[in-house]
Amino acid sequence: MRGIILAGGSGSRMYPVSRIYSKQLTLIYDKPLIYYPLSVLMLGGIRDILIISNEETIPHYRTLFGDGSHLGLNISYALQTAPNGIAESFLIGRSFIGNGPVTLILGDNIFYGNIDFFYQALQRTSGATVFGYRVSDPERYGVIEFDRTGRAVSIEEKPKSPKSNFAVPGLYVYDNSVVSIAADLKPSPRGELEITDVNVEYLKRGQLFVEKIGRGVAWLDTGTPEALLQASNFFGVIEQRQGLKVACIEEIAYYKKFITRDQFHAVVAAIPRSSYREYLDRIIATDEV
Ligand code: TTP
Repeated sequence: MRGIILAGGSGSRMYPVSRIYSKQLTLIYDKPLIYYPLSVLMLGGIRDILIISNEETIPHYRTLFGDGSHLGLNISYALQTAPNGIAESFLIGRSFIGNGPVTLILGDNIFYGNIDFFYQALQRTSGATVFGYRVSDPERYGVIEFDRTGRAVSIEEKPKSPKSNFAVPGLYVYDNSVVSIAADLKPSPRGELEITDVNVEYLKRGQLFVEKIGRGVAWLDTGTPEALLQASNFFGVIEQRQGLKVACIEEIAYYKKFITRDQFHAVVAAIPRSSYREYLDRIIATDEV
């Protein structure tokens, strides 16, 4: 399984900071936002990762992650020249995807809690899996309608009168048909290649699996200043209470055995003195007992 992080966009709701840097680089408590979606892919065992973004931001991601080899990853980068829609990921990433399946995660989507729903979706060998998460403001998202047996019967993008409270989060697992489906899409009235149109096509083919995510999982999308503040507070509370970090990619790389203990030590040794470094030093210290 290969993974794409779509991390460009215009970030207009984050003006004025969006004039100088991308939303996905903003700090969520103690690390850049993009660490959170990256950690979800890593937890899913996905090591071949394409980060799609704009010309200004790609160099910053390169600074953060390089080619990913220090984390046991293989990270490459591709340009989206304008925010032409989420589904453009599969056209930009066509050669990266090759003949296999692909998981897409949006660079501003955070999942916290038990992510078994994702691990199960990764087991599926054909079709598409999207998720349904209950929110109080479904009209901001793609919304799923279920029939009485719980089967998904429609998905509508930002409907004025939502048919349920279940929104589709920015995490999608596709088989290889996604590439040809995306290639046949026409831009929507707002001029974007819509991910909802991809999902509707899978639904028409009887190949869309919709899994509900329970309320024990936090799905945060961080498009506005308020949402960023809430997410920072949320992870600040959890990290301080537990003394554990969320989305610490070096720890995950070691825990998932993407890197050896020696490699992990070398990665940590290169990090400047900081609370982030102290945390990783503590892992090394307890690991060796
Ligand atoms: P959105 O929140 O839909 O848009 P945005 O980030 O551009 O912000 P705003 O609405 O304030 O202008 O994007 C969701 C995620 O997908 C976000 O991480 C940016 C990314 N994205 C792209 O990289 N390219 C695109 O063409 C689109 C539509 C989104």
